Amino acid sequence: MRIGVGLLGFGTVGSGVYRLVELRKQNMRDKMGCDVFVKKVLIRDPKKTRAVPLNDSLFTTIADDILSDDGVNLVVEAIGGVYPAREYVEKAIKSGKDVVTANKELIAKHGRELLQLAKSYGVDLRYEATVAGAIPVIRQVRRFKITDEIDYIGGILNGTCNYILTQMELNKWDYGTALKEAQRLGYAESDPSYDVQGYDSLFKLMILIREVFDIDMDVKDIEVEGIAGISKKDVEKAKARGQRIKLYAWAKKNGDEINAGVKPEFFPVNSLFGQVNGVENAVVIKGDGFGQQFFVGYGAGQMPTGDAVLSDIVDILGKYERTAKG
Ligand code: NAP
Ligand code: HSE
Repeated sequence: MRIGVGLLGFGTVGSGVYRLVELRKQNMRDKMGCDVFVKKVLIRDPKKTRAVPLNDSLFTTIADDILSDDGVNLVVEAIGGVYPAREYVEKAIKSGKDVVTANKELIAKHGRELLQLAKSYGVDLRYEATVAGAIPVIRQVRRFKITDEIDYIGGILNGTCNYILTQMELNKWDYGTALKEAQRLGYAESDPSYDVQGYDSLFKLMILIREVFDIDMDVKDIEVEGIAGISKKDVEKAKARGQRIKLYAWAKKNGDEINAGVKPEFFPVNSLFGQVNGVENAVVIKGDGFGQQFFVGYGAGQMPTGDAVLSDIVDILGKYERTAKG
């Protein structure tokens, strides 16, 4: 079966998804009987030089070329922000298309209603790439929710901040140089203040809280502190005490209440979180059956994020595979 993919966005994430679809199309054909191809790509600026080469005929600046195309079965949203991404995702769903998104702000703020909309149109909406990059934490949490009672989740959820803090400590870079390099490598948000002021971690935490505890928390209900105020001196002082500073996001269930926060924390250098460096993210989940589990992996960047998106695409392909088999 042929599966046409419409890409909304061709920046770090969109171009990574394109590269991975090209690299793995034979696998998807052989193992799932699906001929997956990118049919159209929405961009904003047709004059921009693209790091990943693509035939010009695939680009469009008109969203409807994708959203109203019956040959597009699945839409990948990698634009970012709420407007116009929300409208595009809603239109894709209402046109009967499955949607995979990497957009944490959108899912943190509107995930529940979008999931309901997708359900009512009988399509899939998936967003593994929104939290902790390549770590399959949403998938894992959904499984734990059936087999266990989870009461705590926490982690280093922002690759840019962890990269900056690591470079400040290990390579003695100043904050500005490290941030610039994180931007060049495609880790940072288009407005990097979302990363360094903690809002990107907050959006990811809000998604996890909904997944784990089935509760929608508002942005203003969670205290947020980022790393913008941390100096090289702070990092060095911590190091002298055998500690590392990490931007840490956490949520804990206390009876019917959820307490949550995002803030820089000190971890012993040799602890699990102390050993998570560079663009890596890590997540700890605590539950009554399994006790405690720790996940670590790349938290940002073209291929790790593209991989998380592709994992959602592959899950969705299972549906077509079953239909084909009857
Ligand atoms: P990016 O590099 O800035 O790319 C954004 C893309 O969307 C660009 O191709 C841009 O077009 C296009 N775009 C933006 N606004 C548009 C509009 N109004 N109409 C049409 N096209 C538009 O961003 P990114 O890093 O790929 O991030 C995309 C999303 O994935 C964000 O929600 C981000 O939070 C999330 N995410 C990013 C990462 C990461 O490592 N970067 C990881 C996980 C999740 P032009 O190229 O023409 O400007
Ligand atoms: N800007 C984000 C980060 C991208 O640095 O973690 C991945 O979500």
